[in-house]
Amino acid sequence: MSVAALEGEKILILDFGSQYTQLIARRLRELQVYCEILPYKASRAQILAAKAAGIILSGGPASVHEKGSPRPDKFVFEAGVPVLGICYGMQLLVELHGGKVVPSKKREYGHADLEIVAESPLFADLPKHLQVWMSHGDSASRLHNGFRVDARTESAPYAAISDEAKRQYGIQFHPEVVHTPLGSKVLENFARRICGFKKVWSMTSLLESQVAAIKAQVGEGKVVCALSGGVDSTVAATLISKAIGSRLHCIYVDTGLGRHGDRERAEKVLGRELKLNLKVVDASKLFLGRLKGVSDPERKRKIIGKSFIEVFDKEAKRIKGVTFLAQGTLYPDVIESVSVHGPSVVIKSHHNVGGLPKKMNLKLVEPLRMLFKDEVRLLGKEMGISPDLLGLHPFPGPGLAIRVLGAVTPELLTTLRDADLVMRQELKAAGWYDKVWQAFVVILPSVRSVGVMGDGRTYENTVVVRSVDSRDGMTADWSRLPFDLLQKISSRIVSEVKGVNRVAYDISSKPPATIEWE
Ligand code: XMP
Repeated sequence: MSVAALEGEKILILDFGSQYTQLIARRLRELQVYCEILPYKASRAQILAAKAAGIILSGGPASVHEKGSPRPDKFVFEAGVPVLGICYGMQLLVELHGGKVVPSKKREYGHADLEIVAESPLFADLPKHLQVWMSHGDSASRLHNGFRVDARTESAPYAAISDEAKRQYGIQFHPEVVHTPLGSKVLENFARRICGFKKVWSMTSLLESQVAAIKAQVGEGKVVCALSGGVDSTVAATLISKAIGSRLHCIYVDTGLGRHGDRERAEKVLGRELKLNLKVVDASKLFLGRLKGVSDPERKRKIIGKSFIEVFDKEAKRIKGVTFLAQGTLYPDVIESVSVHGPSVVIKSHHNVGGLPKKMNLKLVEPLRMLFKDEVRLLGKEMGISPDLLGLHPFPGPGLAIRVLGAVTPELLTTLRDADLVMRQELKAAGWYDKVWQAFVVILPSVRSVGVMGDGRTYENTVVVRSVDSRDGMTADWSRLPFDLLQKISSRIVSEVKGVNRVAYDISSKPPATIEWE
């Protein structure tokens, strides 16, 4: 296969199951290097179609000695483009080229001092000693002819290797994690110097190319879009409306399960400021009616999901000639995850508009499907969407229904809304809103406790404040909010919100807890 067959439109990352694979992609994109992730077993045809300027083999939990451990198609090494193996990826490079990988006496995990011992373009413009992050059980113990050692650490004599003639590089450490402070430079050297990748991935060029792509896909057709008022659907809709104007029909379903100001903000920002062709449907009676007396979390979620589809479908059918459905799907949902543990159990049936396409028989327009969340925000900024909207915390599809534990009533929703508003106001006033991933209030109607107010006894509800730090919602830790701030939130809720006499702060991490309580 000739080198010229691969023209170099991106760096291709083959995923061997490391928890850091997405981070490699994010680091490269921060360097304005466009990249995509494919499962390790990508076929020769898929690799060819990717038109990569270079290929990165990610880390992974397997050992190259294990029977059936993941191997790439051998075309990876024949494609004529540079290859960088990281951790497991490096062990593959060694093993598949006749070298030897052995289990380390001790699993190396944590910081290490990397000493660069040979001149390599991978380490150009870097100091001779680097702080790096290691996490591996196997290491190379003998290299095949052609490979040489470029760097070592105290416990890994082959911490970086290369075969310059074949343009193959291996590193035992993880350049993508923050614990390798200069790791981005290593990735940049690979992409720009070694692969010669010139293109600059910018939001301006992305905006132009996406608008053109939507125009080409939709032609003279009409698109319908469910707007939640959140970041992803707003950015997706704004982008599509740039391409096709009022042929984009946006529908905001008011489920009656939103927070204070959610619907008003949608009407103001989406309708009046962003000038989207917006229809607001008030379906709160339907949702609250169907949820009456239902306390099982999964049943609540199912009822909400089904009702949402029903309302949206009915409304969309009123628009003549719609053939496309817009969705704000993001890249992490698209990447086929390489799980060594098989399919995971359903913890919560997430409500998003997932059921819509099948039911409605529409073609999908998903302009954000190659973007990470932070890139969606940058794209939104590029289109002039306000920072306030772009900085909104995630809000679940089933809304406040999964924050009233047990059966939902209008009275409990009012109490929860009032408490939630106080919490958000105080978080913003203290400058903490933008520092945390997500913060909200949960109400525990079945927990009533005794309190004292003035001279009287109270017997009222407890609410819980939950604030978490997270990178992607998959794992999370509780935010270390200042005590003074918690105190202010607590005293304001108890004095201003009717029906609440006790406030607790949730100090559970995910796992084992989840972010939402239901
Ligand atoms: P959990 O509770 O599973 O939440 O730890 C992880 C993240 O997902 C959000 N979440 C949802 N988002 N539909 C959504 O669009 C849902 O049904 C849903 N349930 C949870 C949650 O707020 C957190 O950010």
